[in-house]
Amino acid sequence: MKNVIKRAHFFRGKPLIPGDKSISHRGLILGALASGRSEVINILEGEDVQSTARILKDLGVVISKEGNRTIIDGIGDKEFKNPSHDLDCGNSGTTMRVMMGVLAGKCITATLTGDASLVKRPMKRVSEPLKLMGANFKLTNENYAPLVVTGEKIHGFNYELKIASAQIKTAIIMAALDAEGTTNITGEIGSRDHTERLLPHFGCAISVTDKEISIKGGQKLKGNIVEVPGDPSTAAFWIGAASIIPGATLEMENISLNPTRIGFIYALQRMGAVIETEITTALPEPVGKIRVSFAGLKGGSIQKDEVPSLIDEIPLIAVLATQSHGITEVRGAEELRVKESDRIEAVATNLRAMGCEIEVFDDGFKIQGPQKLKGADIQTFHDHRIAMAFTIAGLMADGETVIHDSECVAVSYPNFFETLKELTQD
Ligand code: S3P
Repeated sequence: MKNVIKRAHFFRGKPLIPGDKSISHRGLILGALASGRSEVINILEGEDVQSTARILKDLGVVISKEGNRTIIDGIGDKEFKNPSHDLDCGNSGTTMRVMMGVLAGKCITATLTGDASLVKRPMKRVSEPLKLMGANFKLTNENYAPLVVTGEKIHGFNYELKIASAQIKTAIIMAALDAEGTTNITGEIGSRDHTERLLPHFGCAISVTDKEISIKGGQKLKGNIVEVPGDPSTAAFWIGAASIIPGATLEMENISLNPTRIGFIYALQRMGAVIETEITTALPEPVGKIRVSFAGLKGGSIQKDEVPSLIDEIPLIAVLATQSHGITEVRGAEELRVKESDRIEAVATNLRAMGCEIEVFDDGFKIQGPQKLKGADIQTFHDHRIAMAFTIAGLMADGETVIHDSECVAVSYPNFFETLKELTQD
């Protein structure tokens, strides 16, 4: 599929933002592990979350839908069933990595695999700590899927996380639930904290400080209801567009305002954007309203410690940097090279195709703005966030921008192009 994007002269509205991807995955998985019934309300209907649901069903979990409620009959004290075929995680790194932790201490053998992008993404970063807990993994070429996990008796450990990744952190926490003794995680633990916030909601004790996460093994989870707020990483595309289209206004409600997720809003405010947030519910996640109105942007600097809180928004930041006055520099973001695509390369290729100059580093980039964008053929590399970021670029460009392979937006935002049409129609 391809979508043709033209310059927008109008941008206004109150779009409904689909459920948060990270919380949707975790709600399903914790519900599947808990005893009794759980409900996930307003789950994201994207392909990544469907991959998690499909795998849990392959493992014998009963999941059904009633309107916007996803009902999960958790396994509690029972065992997962041995899957009859490979578990297909599709494009979803979160599904594969978190399930590695879930399965590390279970009594089954399973093969996890994925699409052409996922089988190229590093998995040793997850199997390595889990092996220190006694888990048994066999990876393709020692780092990739397809990978086989054979459940073992595992034990708690002390681990210093070297990469600020919520997927690795969550995998270890999931394994820790089945481990004998206590697991203590230190180091780079400041990434998104949905797992830590949701576990107590499922009746599980976890201690979290700035320096350490501790969790005792053998705890039982009790089913509960999870209301999924709108995904701030999805809302980001509209926030970005509203910040650079003259006259734009935008209002959104029920969005996660979890501080570990809204680094993008803080960075844009520093760059001069007019964005107001208002928290309406605080637990288990801060949730609320976002209002944006057009204001010219100036360049900004994003350094390593801020990267985890805006990691998925960096391709969009690159696009916005071309429309900002002055230099924008992003550093410490080498993780972008191992996302659904090499997002530093994907951003550079497409900005250059649109006639822009960008200086690329191993861990980021530097862009001098403002620069004129020319409509061009955009390669998405089958990466949803590249497709959406360059659609926003197309709204600012002269001529037509063609987003090729645009169906990949379904990973996190199936109605992206429909909502875009509503927001840009006078
Ligand atoms: C996610 C964590 C992030 C993010 C991904 C979702 C999660 O990845 O990029 O879209 O739900 O835990 P890392 O934890 O690898 O940075």
